[in-house]
Amino acid sequence: MINDIEKILYSEEELREIAQKLGARISEDYKDKNLLLVSILKGSVVFMADLMRAITVPCKIDFMCVSSYGSGSESSGVVKIVKDLDINLKGYDVLIVEDILDSGRTLNYVKSILLGRNPSSIKICTLLDKPERRVVDLKADYFGMNVPDEFVVGYGLDFDEKYRNLPFIGILKREVYSE
Ligand code: IMP
Ligand code: MG
Repeated sequence: MINDIEKILYSEEELREIAQKLGARISEDYKDKNLLLVSILKGSVVFMADLMRAITVPCKIDFMCVSSYGSGSESSGVVKIVKDLDINLKGYDVLIVEDILDSGRTLNYVKSILLGRNPSSIKICTLLDKPERRVVDLKADYFGMNVPDEFVVGYGLDFDEKYRNLPFIGILKREVYSE
């Protein structure tokens, strides 16, 4: 698995620190709110596990699994809900937790669906952001790090469902996905 990695971008320690910093900011911003963390499966699970433990104010968690219709690595913006939330969003300050914001199409669609359920507020926290790849007008309210336009895996992020269990984030060798 490790032989498929071109370069390590963020180590386990650096990722823990990023989650700690974001958790501290979120704890401050949501201390008088009714926080509900919504983790988008599967990519955000590892980040979610670290982030929620870095949050010191009361919160609830829920999970949503969506799949994006699209060809190859391009998402289309039309999203199918594979697993919906259990909690009714009314009265909650929702914070969507995502692994990476790329074109932004997937999250834009998810955000509009969730907005239609009348939460008190809705914001986005993404671990990684590729701002130069954005095709829709969507900004993360919280982000850990900007990454270059390369395909990255590990710490929950996959290629073809693999590499999610790597404890760090690394750039996948091009030959692996252009084969
Ligand atoms: P978007 O709709 O183009 O923003 O797609 C976002 C989704 O694409 C993320 O939730 C990831 O699942 C996936 N994705 C985008 N870039 C990468 C990457 O570099 N590595 C792994 N998955 C990625
Ligand atoms: Mg994914």
